[in-house]
Amino acid sequence: MTNRTCLAVILAAGEGTRMKSALPKVLHKIGGLEMVGHVMAAASAAGADGLALVVGNGAEQVRSFAETHSQSGKQPDIYVQEQRLGTAHAVLAAQEAIARGYDDVLVVFGDHPLLDPAVLLNARAKLAEGAAVAVLGFRPQDPTGYGRLIEKDGRLLAIREEKDCSEREKQITFCNSGVMAVAGQHALPLLDQVGNDNAKGEFYLTDIVEIANRQGLLVVASEAGIESALGINNRAELAEAEAVWQRRKRREMMLSGVTLIAPETVFFSHDTQIGPDTVVEPNVWFGPGVKIASGVRIHAFSHLEEAAVETGAVIGPFARLRPGASIMEKAKIGNFCEVKNARVEPGAKVPHLSYIGDATVGAGANIGAGTITCNYDGFGKHHTEIGAAAFIGTNSSLVAPVSVGAGAYVASGSVVTENVPADALAFGRARQATYEGRARDLRERLAAEKAAKRSEG
Ligand code: UD1
Ligand code: CA
Repeated sequence: MTNRTCLAVILAAGEGTRMKSALPKVLHKIGGLEMVGHVMAAASAAGADGLALVVGNGAEQVRSFAETHSQSGKQPDIYVQEQRLGTAHAVLAAQEAIARGYDDVLVVFGDHPLLDPAVLLNARAKLAEGAAVAVLGFRPQDPTGYGRLIEKDGRLLAIREEKDCSEREKQITFCNSGVMAVAGQHALPLLDQVGNDNAKGEFYLTDIVEIANRQGLLVVASEAGIESALGINNRAELAEAEAVWQRRKRREMMLSGVTLIAPETVFFSHDTQIGPDTVVEPNVWFGPGVKIASGVRIHAFSHLEEAAVETGAVIGPFARLRPGASIMEKAKIGNFCEVKNARVEPGAKVPHLSYIGDATVGAGANIGAGTITCNYDGFGKHHTEIGAAAFIGTNSSLVAPVSVGAGAYVASGSVVTENVPADALAFGRARQATYEGRARDLRERLAAEKAAKRSEG
């Protein structure tokens, strides 16, 4: 939007005990991405040049997530709030970052995964228009527990926490979402004046509204959608947010040209990419890291993660693509097949009941039903190389490391333990022996034995 510089301070020092989890609250995922990752993404999309993440004492897991997860190339700075003394105190933990002198300072909560970047841009626009503080308000169905926005003549005079509200103030339905934008030059002086003389004995960020007003600064509130204000406190709310997020993502996919026959049964991850004219049938799950080109068909009940599928390929029904599966143009992975760390080259077919792991399947190769790459010996993983246009007969086991050359033919039921050269025919099974009339002889003998036993008893 503007040429104003911006810092986003993300508060994530909550204990989150209501999640009943060993995992810190903000690391629970929506669409396969940690909640705090969604907040970082929203802040970046709203033009934040810097990200300051405030974590609680001992929140090593949050720290290590943030250190490994950069957001559009931006690495967040991590600050520790040693004691949880309130939201203003938490923002001050990032004092060093604020003191660098950004034009805008956004304060957001790490447990608001549906935060809309447009809402943050809106708040920044208020600062550009001259406000010292812009607060995002919303109208929840039930305002209990939220800070109430006290307005007069288009100015926001105060935010009153529920516990400090009079009966009349409790009737106010316009509430604090928690998102606030503060002009950088005023941020630290305002925060420094916050005290803890209130019902909870905490340093409230919301107090800067009254302080700014006392100094004659302009404070405004603008209304945000309820989703941007949605803080997650337990797993039921987590699931509700997931549902909202999935609905948004399905719509985005369909509007970009992807056909979803039963959209409500398809689940995406934050980074799922699908090209136009791909059809996704019902009950398909996309874990993180999936990239699908255009014109692909994904049949029902398939499960994909960290996999790439190129144009014209057909997947499923009931296929599982695991990390490192690369399915090239017009290749086919059929029902009850699992592919892991393997490249299936153009036009190759793995139509039924196979496991292809740590392998390359050459272009146009045909893998018979029930073929298994035996990639693991209990200690290490080994590679199987199948050449172009090779034919692997049904129910074959390829014991890796092993290669089958281009155009080679492996007889059905083979256990292949030695490399097969190109264009060779390999049998890896016992020869069939057939004895004329012996079935009849056997039947007669067994029947006679049984009759003899019966007459004895
Ligand atoms: C806060 C707001 C309230 C608003 C509500 C919206 C204040 C004083 N109140 O209330 O007006 O309606 O959010 O959900 O800001 N945090 C820290 N360190 C702390 C305290 C909090 O990092 O010492 C973080 C929490 O992890 C959380 C956020 O700040 O992400 C909000 O804290 P919380 O205690 O949930 O505030 P509320 O009482 O819900
Ligand atoms: Ca809260």
